[in-house]
Amino acid sequence: MQDFVFHNSTKMIFGKDKETLVGEEAVIYGKKILLHYGGGSVKTSGLYDRVMGSLVEQGIEVFELGGVKPNPRVSLVREGIALCKENNIELILAVGGGSVIDSAKAIAAGVKYDGDVWDFFEGKSEVKDCLPIGVVLTIPAAGSESSSGTVITNEDGWYKRATGHNSMRPKFAVLNPVLTYTLPPYQTACGITDMMAHILERYFTNEKHVELTDRLCEGALRTIINYAPIVLENPTNYDARAEIMWSGTIAHNDLLGTGRIGDWGSHDIEHEISGIYDIAHGAGLAIVFPAWMKYVYKHDVNRFVQFANRVWDVEVDLNDLEKTALAGIKKTEQFFVSIGMPVTLTEVGIGEKHLGEMARKGTERGPLGNFVKLQEADVLQILRLAQ
Ligand code: NZQ
Ligand code: ZN
Repeated sequence: MQDFVFHNSTKMIFGKDKETLVGEEAVIYGKKILLHYGGGSVKTSGLYDRVMGSLVEQGIEVFELGGVKPNPRVSLVREGIALCKENNIELILAVGGGSVIDSAKAIAAGVKYDGDVWDFFEGKSEVKDCLPIGVVLTIPAAGSESSSGTVITNEDGWYKRATGHNSMRPKFAVLNPVLTYTLPPYQTACGITDMMAHILERYFTNEKHVELTDRLCEGALRTIINYAPIVLENPTNYDARAEIMWSGTIAHNDLLGTGRIGDWGSHDIEHEISGIYDIAHGAGLAIVFPAWMKYVYKHDVNRFVQFANRVWDVEVDLNDLEKTALAGIKKTEQFFVSIGMPVTLTEVGIGEKHLGEMARKGTERGPLGNFVKLQEADVLQILRLAQ
């Protein structure tokens, strides 16, 4: 097991109606806040009014910036930074999903920096400090509510890039599973795929003595696999929504990655796809992950056998371990199909045109992944396998 520091400081407030407490949490950080949200689901669901009520009750002055798009754009981040600087904002409250939270994180870091915020995403500068961030989560998926990272798209060249720092972890996050009842099935499924991918990225490691976190990963995956069809069948089943929502956070709050080095190649490849084609991140992962698995499984057949057996209950064929490994990959792919995800590029209308560009852009700062290091030619082959 590798040495590690695990320090996740986000206060999680979980349960029914908990968004009404957001004012009490926010006022700890100041009386001027920026309320950041997406394209309108918060207004149609009535959440906006409840959050606003709770903030106003605490005497908080609220500035607003809505309009965050899925795959959030750096242009709106720059607008947010200017707004925060002009009005001496003390806390950014993100009400929404990963896109809104990531946009809030980038704004929070940009406010404390004299240069252009994109510098952080190009590796020209490192985040050292940022404004405090609070969250009301509306979609369990990205895990950004307690992660230290943010992923932003630059419309100039359609680069989708990540950066991170511990100061970006939200100070608090409100998780009310009832808020997820209004999610369209496709978004629910994209979120489920993303949280599974966050666990799989950590699971496929070259570290040998990580039994505890292997078991935690397998348990979390089995929980998600069990409850996914239930929430899709019955979107207002509170307990099922609650299991999925908490799984989404646990998948990406760094606990499952302790003592090991995760892979993250599939995520990096997916970011190239959603950067250019603007598809949902979860859908992109359902396409990339099975292809990545098929490409790399021979690197450690035993780990794939363990995955097949412990997560998917595939019986181990001691005479043909490869067959067992491949059966686990097949089960993963079939599961994504069963929840309505695409598993090929063709299904989302992506042809040959930009495959070479994606492989080149993805690897221009070095090879991707850790389980197996992927060069440009490898990434291209994985994209081809995903066609
Ligand atoms: O914009 P609105 O109208 O709110 O609609 C959103 C959006 O269209 C809708 N939605 C959210 N909550 C809803 C709802 N609709 C009805 N009822 C609700 N309760 O869902 C759509 C997708 O929202 P988005 O925030 O984009 O989804 P998600 O949470 O999956 O975030 C995806 C982004 O997170 C990044 C991804 O790359 C992508 O840009 N990631 C961030 C990570 C991080 N910061 O740690 C890690 C992840 O691996 C990921 O890369
Ligand atoms: Zn993800």
